[in-house]
Amino acid sequence: MKTTIRTSRRKSSGDNVNNDYLEIVRVLRLGKREREEEEEEEEEEREDLTMAVAGGFARVLPSSFECRSDPDFSTGSEKFNSTGNRFTGKTNSFPICGSFNSGLSSSLIFRFPPNFVRQLSIKARRNCSNIGVAQVVAASWSNNNNGNSVPNVSAVDSAAAATEIEIDEVKAVVDVNGDNSKINNNNNNNGVQLSGLAALKASFLCSDGSIAVHAGERLGRGIVTDGITTPVVNTTAYWFKNSDELIDFKEGRYASFEYGRYGNPTTESLERKISALERAETTLFLASGMCASTVLMFALVKKGGHIVTTTDCYRKTRIFIQDYLVPNMDITVTVIDPADIDGLQSALDQNNVSLFFTESPTNPYLRCVDIELVSKICHSKGALVCIDGTFATPLNQKALSLGADIVLNSATKYIGGHNDVIGGCISGSEEVVSKIRKLHHVLGGVLNPNAAYLFIRGIKTLHVRIKQQNSTALEMAKILEAHPKIVRVHYPGLPSHPDHDIAMQQMTGFGGVVSFEVDGDLHTTKKFIDALKIPYIAPSFGGCESIVDQPAIMSYWDLTQDGRAMFGIKDNLVRFSFGLEDFEDLKADILQALATL
Ligand SMILES: Cc1ncc(COP(=O)(O)O)c(C=O)c1O
Repeated sequence: MKTTIRTSRRKSSGDNVNNDYLEIVRVLRLGKREREEEEEEEEEEREDLTMAVAGGFARVLPSSFECRSDPDFSTGSEKFNSTGNRFTGKTNSFPICGSFNSGLSSSLIFRFPPNFVRQLSIKARRNCSNIGVAQVVAASWSNNNNGNSVPNVSAVDSAAAATEIEIDEVKAVVDVNGDNSKINNNNNNNGVQLSGLAALKASFLCSDGSIAVHAGERLGRGIVTDGITTPVVNTTAYWFKNSDELIDFKEGRYASFEYGRYGNPTTESLERKISALERAETTLFLASGMCASTVLMFALVKKGGHIVTTTDCYRKTRIFIQDYLVPNMDITVTVIDPADIDGLQSALDQNNVSLFFTESPTNPYLRCVDIELVSKICHSKGALVCIDGTFATPLNQKALSLGADIVLNSATKYIGGHNDVIGGCISGSEEVVSKIRKLHHVLGGVLNPNAAYLFIRGIKTLHVRIKQQNSTALEMAKILEAHPKIVRVHYPGLPSHPDHDIAMQQMTGFGGVVSFEVDGDLHTTKKFIDALKIPYIAPSFGGCESIVDQPAIMSYWDLTQDGRAMFGIKDNLVRFSFGLEDFEDLKADILQALATL
């Protein structure tokens, strides 16, 4: 029985093993008579109808199922617009607030026979959620029908491209009054106001909270399932029905991931989710944040190129630039203070700068770079801007909308959010990200699909976590600043922070990490940390569990005190990542630990 069904599906649609399994489940659900009817129908279709959707995963619904198109889907066909974007097969943007790309923007293959339009009614029952696009493609094919059984690729491309939506207009709404409370009361779940999207028809996914839950999955995952959650596709390779299909793939008429290093449907759902939150055309997920930044720099800065970066940053990023790129690739580097716009300008004037790479906020002093300003300055000199937005998350800051070319996240932190999975991602335009993707396919550093699932699950609660962490951190920063045993607090939400105005302009929340200096030396600070009961002493940040570390020990212990001072790392500095524990418990814990000093 299983073999028969599997063979039948393979012949009829060229679907993969996943679909075979679902087909078995589907057929077992049906009665005998229905099965016979089905088989007859299959037989009819088998000859000439091949239709694979989204990476070779045709949607197969039992005929007894009702069409359950999502609201966006059902109205989507009215919203086709011509943006001039071409379907690239890798773009993974997402329909937001009435926009529509049907979730078919990637890995979309349609192969229709001449009598496709007649057959559409049969297929429509099973592919109801794809019908809008199918009709457009059919129309497009009919208009361009040259008698071949396979429509020419450009017809498919243009239909798919028509489903793309411009999201460039999205702009952060800035809080001109510099009023913290306004930021916290932002009714967009701490997300940026989507003013640029106002022109688009409102739908059920208008805030980052809803987008975080549904993007990349509900309207667009390329995996056949009626499950609410996205399945983990554990495979190393993707098979082809026959050699012609493989040739079609090689010549761009058929899309597949081919090999696990080049892509995975679970990971692609995740990438679409991040693209939706970052308002990016596309996203590439990699095995870690460091993998993301190193591949990015290798791909975008050629031998002999010049990088500008900032003094305060994750130490391993600086080590990669100074100890690997500079000596081995003949690359030169200028290191500026995050607020040093003149320094940036003169670096651009004096060098052929390929890339300005900076965190914002930075690690560990949470310095903020004026993303809009530096982007303008860099672009006027032809340099790309990459913002490592790990401390901000896509909810507190939209670096691309502010003008950056690329935003990078160590997803290990807030995006995963549960201290249980490592990964990193790069979002931006297809043009730029494809250069990085190409090298990534060679270098490896692939995210495991199980890890992709954990990220997808983590992101569903990102907005509530961030809301809580923003609020706890801001309140604790104020309490710490007023405490006699604390000499300085570094938190961009405080007016005392050197980049507070910039943060107010470009962020809608300031994150869950607060850095502060204890009134004392390395040992007093150590004593404070050891007296804390709730946070783990550990590297990393952004998860549900609070984490505390003393950077002088955790990240710079191999250096002398003077060596540490050269990087601005003070012995009394504490970096506290507020988790999701109750605010009053955290406050009591910090106060009791300070009382021991
Ligand atoms: C700002 C920043 N970027 C990148 C990274 C590297 O990320 P990962 O640990 O996922 O490799 C880190 C790690 O702490 C970080 O703090």
